[in-house]
Amino acid sequence: MAISQEVLAELARRRAEAKAGGGVERQEKRRAKGLMTARDRIETLFQPDSFQEFGLHAEHQTRHFGMEKKSLPTDGVITGIGYVDDRPVAGFSQDFTVAGGSLGKVHAGKICDVMDYAMRCGMPIVGINDSGGARIQEGVESLSGYGQVFNRNVMASGVVPQIAVIAGPCAGGAAYSPALMDFIIMVKGSAELFICGPEVIRAASGQVTSMAEIASAEAHASVSGNIHFVAENDAEALGIVKRLLSFLPGNNMADPPHRLEADLSVGEDPALNDVLPADKKMVFDVRDVIARLADGGDFMEVQAQFARNMVVGFGRVGGVVVGFIANQPMVKAGAIDIDASDKGARFIRFCNCFNIPLVTLVDVPGFLPGVNQERGGIIRHGAKMLFAYGASTVPKITVILRKAYGGSFLAMCSRDMGADLVFAWPSAEIAVMGAEGAVNVLHRKTIKEAENPAAMTAELAAEYRERFASPYLSAGNLFVHDVIEPSRTRGAIALGLRGLLSKRELRPSKKHGNIPL
Ligand code: HXC
Repeated sequence: MAISQEVLAELARRRAEAKAGGGVERQEKRRAKGLMTARDRIETLFQPDSFQEFGLHAEHQTRHFGMEKKSLPTDGVITGIGYVDDRPVAGFSQDFTVAGGSLGKVHAGKICDVMDYAMRCGMPIVGINDSGGARIQEGVESLSGYGQVFNRNVMASGVVPQIAVIAGPCAGGAAYSPALMDFIIMVKGSAELFICGPEVIRAASGQVTSMAEIASAEAHASVSGNIHFVAENDAEALGIVKRLLSFLPGNNMADPPHRLEADLSVGEDPALNDVLPADKKMVFDVRDVIARLADGGDFMEVQAQFARNMVVGFGRVGGVVVGFIANQPMVKAGAIDIDASDKGARFIRFCNCFNIPLVTLVDVPGFLPGVNQERGGIIRHGAKMLFAYGASTVPKITVILRKAYGGSFLAMCSRDMGADLVFAWPSAEIAVMGAEGAVNVLHRKTIKEAENPAAMTAELAAEYRERFASPYLSAGNLFVHDVIEPSRTRGAIALGLRGLLSKRELRPSKKHGNIPL
């Protein structure tokens, strides 16, 4: 029996109604404000005609507050699977035009369904958040919905990459779903991410603040460190998602999208021989080194505005996807502090979850001295770097550019902390502490009694550097595999990575380690 035209027309009508979300007027209002609709976002994220929607006909089941007479198309969230660069990705996009994108039982059920699907099939999840939070009319059903989403965020952690876009309000407990994901991208101006807003803060504590200060993309990118990328608008945010996905595998059992070439010779880059300033005390931008090491200079920096003394991000060397972790001498002389430790450790752990080799570039004078650091728990936080590297089983290559002192060198993946390959530039100084500090302890009396204490310190420090901090000493002791011309660094890393791609490391079985948090 053929399906009648009426039946098909009814289906078309229902589909069109559901797709219109909160209605053309509301959608147009958003567009007029420069915002995309939930569906625009899905269409921008996925390649044309690749999105397969789940739950287009979903409806809320609430029978309170007059809701029984109200239809909420798609129940305020678009969910499904689409393709990005020909790879499958699961996505959901909250529709603010439908009850403010608020999350009720069915809305949460749709997110959970698509997350379960992504977990079964091993594909990344992208969640676009734009919501007034728990649907007030649904009460604890909404709270339960959040609980189910959070639980899945935890289950998916380390199994499939999870990326959150904050494109509108995301407040209260709702902020914890993005917080449980791997990366957060926030749109400037339109997005707000907070637990307690200015009004609640004022009522509870008397403190006066603003959304810009506590909830904006700028505040989270540079002060709280809660987010990883800032976008000027929705389209840019989705562009960042796509670029990020281009470095990530679909799941923890797959390799990242390497672009290996048959030719192993990477050649030399003489410009790297001139990248360091002649004066050891002068600073340089480590991102200039990374740009010369990464294929095509393509480096995707993560958390660029937070803890700028530690640079982290993705690139490829000789086609192999890597995570770069580098001290930044331009900020706090590259010393490791609390925020840098948190940033570095989380990035290292993400890479380890998803089989991304680590390339560490070292120029570190130490952990940052300071009362705030000690009282703030630099011991606990700095330990995260040691733990993260020690617990990582992915290939690890370390290059010592300049200073590598004391515990901070171990925290930047020394050989003893599990580096598979350690290279040093001839400019490297590897020692238990800086030369000046060391001679002040060892020769305090001689310096004090010298006619010219400064000259004596300099002379003794030079001797210390020569005798105890030389990279050849470390190479002689096998802490360093080779001392190389900077120009050969890219080639050394590329060749090393190729061999290390087959690395398999077995550890004693346990539930999980207990990283200091
Ligand atoms: C039901 C909601 C809603 C919500 C918004 N709406 N939030 N409906 N539940 N949580 C509806 C509005 O009634 C309105 O419906 C439409 O969405 C648009 O909202 P407006 O207020 O007109 O939009 P705007 O002026 O842009 O303000 C956006 C907003 C505001 C700042 C998000 O709506 C707001 O403050 N909402 C309440 C936020 C909140 O308190 N949520 C906390 C819930 S408790 P109509 O029909 O008029 O278009 C919670 C706990 C979660 O989230 C715990 C998880 C662990």
